[in-house]
Amino acid sequence: METCVKKLQREEEIAWFVNLLSRENVRSYLEIGSKFGGSLERVAMALRAGSRIVSVDMPGGTGASRPHLEACVERLKGHGYDAHLILGDSTAPEIIAQAAALGPFDAVFIDANHLLPYVTKDWENYGPLGRIVAFHDIAYVPKPGNPKEIEVPQFWNSIKGGYRFEECKLDGPHNGIGVLWR
Ligand SMILES: C[S@@+](CC[C@H](N)C(=O)[O-])C[C@H]1O[C@@H](n2cnc3c(N)ncnc32)[C@H](O)[C@@H]1O
Repeated sequence: METCVKKLQREEEIAWFVNLLSRENVRSYLEIGSKFGGSLERVAMALRAGSRIVSVDMPGGTGASRPHLEACVERLKGHGYDAHLILGDSTAPEIIAQAAALGPFDAVFIDANHLLPYVTKDWENYGPLGRIVAFHDIAYVPKPGNPKEIEVPQFWNSIKGGYRFEECKLDGPHNGIGVLWR
């Protein structure tokens, strides 16, 4: 079976997330930031066929990954999923409206622009659509000489205390996934 060409998640992390979503009987999933479709396909294929799967990703940012993401969504449709791809800036009102029209969702995964103002906007705009909201890179530690601008840890630590939450933080190099129940 053909699957996504590039996986950006560490397998133990995404397996932990998928198990949690299965435990929570998730039947509808919104992902903000899908790139090649690696996490989208991994999560979707673990949910029951017929589940609603929606990806929001920005064509400019996606670049060469766009055809792979489009192919991923077509594969999911072929497997019987109610899959949708919304291409555009997650902060744009028309993109938020398109996602909202397909909601609400059992789970929302936020993994797009990792700078504080964007993570905050994605949480404010898409968090209300989800019963469960998850964030990637909650435990990101910059590698020496290769600092990426990722401010999810600050964001996550500032909000998680107000909710029931679970975290996946593995030993060794990892990015971490945080999940909260709204
Ligand atoms: C880290 S990658 C997603 C990886 C994917 N979740 C996975 O694990 O396979 C982030 C993606 O978010 C997209 N992105 C960044 N800023 C965005 C924005 N404002 N709106 C929509 N997508 C955005 C990028 O283009 C990229 O495709």
